[in-house]
Amino acid sequence: MFSSRTRLPAAINVLTERCRSLREAGVPLLDLTSTNPTEVGLFDIEPWLIALSSAESAHYRPEPFGLLSARQAVAQNYAAKGLTIDPRQVVLCSSTSEAYSWIFKLLTDPGETILVPRPSYPLLEHLATYSDVRTSTYTIAYDGAYFIDIDSVKQQVTRQTKGVVSISPNNPTGSFTRRAELDALLQLDLPIISDEVFSDYCLQACPPDLPSALGAESSLVFALGGLSKSCALPQLKLAWIVVGGQKDLSYQALARLEIIADNFLSPNTPVQVALPQLLDFGAQRHAQVKQRLLRNTATLRRLTENSPVNIWPTHGGWSAVLRLPLTVSDDWALVLLDDQRVLVQPGWFYDFTDDRIVVVSLLTEENDFAQGIERLVSRASRAT
Ligand SMILES: Cc1ncc(COP(=O)(O)O)c(C=O)c1O
Repeated sequence: MFSSRTRLPAAINVLTERCRSLREAGVPLLDLTSTNPTEVGLFDIEPWLIALSSAESAHYRPEPFGLLSARQAVAQNYAAKGLTIDPRQVVLCSSTSEAYSWIFKLLTDPGETILVPRPSYPLLEHLATYSDVRTSTYTIAYDGAYFIDIDSVKQQVTRQTKGVVSISPNNPTGSFTRRAELDALLQLDLPIISDEVFSDYCLQACPPDLPSALGAESSLVFALGGLSKSCALPQLKLAWIVVGGQKDLSYQALARLEIIADNFLSPNTPVQVALPQLLDFGAQRHAQVKQRLLRNTATLRRLTENSPVNIWPTHGGWSAVLRLPLTVSDDWALVLLDDQRVLVQPGWFYDFTDDRIVVVSLLTEENDFAQGIERLVSRASRAT
């Protein structure tokens, strides 16, 4: 009766199962995995609630790409970062997930392929499935620094390939796509879907050499952003696609996207009306989040110094990648949960092939983060 797309998983993974039973038994856990900015003790009063109650929201104007005032606010936000875009290039939707599904619908017929990075954001695979798209993976490699293995991209390109996803900074590696890497991807003459949701969170002293893929004048570029990360407001469900690249192609893409968007009319009116103000408040929230990320990064460096725990350099985003010693027989995430009551994400969750990798959220409340990392380091030290 049901589609194969919605097939349920055969079993819940062991880590989730064990975590659930510990929580049900009332065992306190140090959770180093939360990436929900509204649940990590960051913000007190919520001035943006007032912005949402404007009388203007009483009127409904079904604009496929969203209200022009909101699209202009997005364009101004890019201008503040030194990127000139026309508000007519901006398409509003309710989440980056929705943005992906609209772009997949725009570019692919069932069974065609989109290239996605690995290791990376695990939801991509599922989003592709729901749009009847296949994914092929290319490699984000590490040799002391992360880089896109361009040969691995080229090897995956076939006649069925209809686009390449690039995530900058990538989740969870925190690596920004470099200008030279974007140039190499553009040479494939395939549309680039550039997920830039974490791009406002650069955690290194010098900024990335490519602030956005939108500077490209060839091929077709879709830059994705949204309130959930840039302003730490995931509950407001507003994201955007900025269509760029070669002018004529981008006009054609916008004309077709308009038909898709017109069928959904997704973003609600109050959030669109409030967007100019939300983006202003967002700067403050963004600063608070960034301070949390930087403090936890400093704690991580201090606590792992002279220990067997290696931090792989994170240039941006909300996560840190740690490499533990190869001495436990079980999954490190399970060992840490069972022995230390510390919850981390296993590297395989993001398709890391190295069993020693675990991922932690730099958004974690600071005391919990320090305690959790202390326990992790102590357990890793006993393992050597
Ligand atoms: C790379 C990346 N893109 C997009 C998202 C989700 O964005 P949204 O909340 O707008 O769907 C996430 C969430 O963690 C992410 O890691």
